[in-house]
Amino acid sequence: MSQIAFLLNGAPVRVSDEAPTRTLLDWLRETRGLTGTKEGCNEGDCGACTVMVTDAQGSRALNACILFLPQLDGKAVRTVEGISGPQGQPHPVQRAMIDHHGSQCGFCTPGFIVSMATAHLNGATDHDDQLAGNLCRCTGYAPIIRAAQAAESAPVPDWIATDRDFNLALILREGDAEGRGVSEPTQHGFRPRNSDDLAAWYLANPEATLIAGATDVGLWVTKQLRDLSQVAFLSGIEDLQHIEDQGDTLRIGAGVTIADLRSALAPRFPSFGELLRRYSSEQVRNAATIGGNIANGSPIGDGPPALIALGATLHLRRGEARRQMPLEDFFLEYRKQDRLPGEFVEAVTIPAAAPNLRCYKLSKRFDQDISAVCGCFNLTVTDGTITDARIAFGGMAGTPKRAAAVEAALLGKPMTPDTAQQAAALMAQDFSPLSDMRASSAYRLTTAQNMLRRYVHDLDGIQTSVLEVRA
Ligand SMILES: Cc1cc2nc3c(=O)[nH]c(=O)nc-3n(C[C@H](O)[C@H](O)[C@H](O)COP(=O)(O)OP(=O)(O)OC[C@H]3O[C@@H](n4cnc5c(N)ncnc54)[C@H](O)[C@@H]3O)c2cc1C
Ligand code: FES
Ligand code: FES
Repeated sequence: MSQIAFLLNGAPVRVSDEAPTRTLLDWLRETRGLTGTKEGCNEGDCGACTVMVTDAQGSRALNACILFLPQLDGKAVRTVEGISGPQGQPHPVQRAMIDHHGSQCGFCTPGFIVSMATAHLNGATDHDDQLAGNLCRCTGYAPIIRAAQAAESAPVPDWIATDRDFNLALILREGDAEGRGVSEPTQHGFRPRNSDDLAAWYLANPEATLIAGATDVGLWVTKQLRDLSQVAFLSGIEDLQHIEDQGDTLRIGAGVTIADLRSALAPRFPSFGELLRRYSSEQVRNAATIGGNIANGSPIGDGPPALIALGATLHLRRGEARRQMPLEDFFLEYRKQDRLPGEFVEAVTIPAAAPNLRCYKLSKRFDQDISAVCGCFNLTVTDGTITDARIAFGGMAGTPKRAAAVEAALLGKPMTPDTAQQAAALMAQDFSPLSDMRASSAYRLTTAQNMLRRYVHDLDGIQTSVLEVRA
């Protein structure tokens, strides 16, 4: 019988009788009695369920509530119970949380401890970003940040470092390896090792659900209680996880996580990098993929507007057939994409440089929130005249969409605030946004117009971000 095998708090475990969409959180609490991992929201928003997951790529914090057991095959998992030492020695972040009074009611504390221990292991000191996915109602966060800072220089305890050297052979020692990453369907879902195997299988099983990072699909299971009968897990497909520098273009595999995308793109496109910093939380960025962000067709996803403004080309594959299209053509109408049965997103290519790209995200909360409006602007200016214009918005229509009338009004005009003012008036021709809980239609339209004005000042070197303005 095929099995899922992984290291749990340093000890090998095998799982053979669980549904493919059994979440790690439920399994830990219900079958292993590891109740330190808490259930708060059960939808990736609060971080109470944070675990540390290690594989050949390194260690990262993930939300156990939207992580399915087959996604862990061959990896090492550490829960809060495994953060202190074998003799109960506190981890430096635990000691610091006590010293700095970082816990009050304590419900959020295990999740914070795992996030802090993972950041400590990785030498990450951007504590606000590292901990933005962990919510605390009691402390006001300052004592927690002080604790994280206090633990920075402490050495990584031996028992934590060992996960990085773990040997999968140890897990496999006693028996069959047949279930691990084999390109054979099993009761744990199909876990292809490469995209050729996925292509052949998906063509034959077009009704199946593809699961990449599960940051959307996880909620279909935990919140909508959907029964996903046939699933394929893409997380083991290594050839979809690369970013290739092709000279003038970058080819980004569909399986690249938002965290890896941010690291790769921030030096080239700082504004896109900043947008990705505000893409949910560390735990979600570590799981979510750019392929899932495109394929789900959400009108408020953050990846598509930036990619469309860059002039991205989408690469689709169905069996042995491949086709490509400008990314904006993929989005037909609300939640309807130009994707055939059995066809999947293979990659997206973007230009290697775009010095004028700017992305502005407006959301009710700065961190860990979906956009109300996301505007991305990429104008080419030659001798003071606008010679090319690509402007795309999320949150303004049923799909991510270009501002065609505004773009046309800008072409051939001087790059001035007056030009932006006049063109912004045409935003109402391009969009009739909805009113919903995130924003009213009028607010969306006004803020989209203001983003264009902001962009012109921004390119002129005027500080337009409140984060940059100094007294
Ligand atoms: C707490 C939280 C906060 C979030 N915040 C943001 C945010 O700030 N900005 C934002 O844009 N999104 C946000 N999201 C949404 C989500 O993270 C993204 O849509 C994410 O990129 C989905 O990627 P995934 O790999 O997790 O996809 P999955 O959940 O695995 O899949 C999503 C959909 O895409 C399909 N799919 C996946 N990969 C492929 C492929 N290669 N080819 C074809 N179909 C595929 C799946 O079948 C499914 O229909 C948030 C989600 C959560 C839970
Ligand atoms: S329980 Fe809230 S993120 Fe998992
Ligand atoms: S200590 Fe109470 S929620 Fe954080």
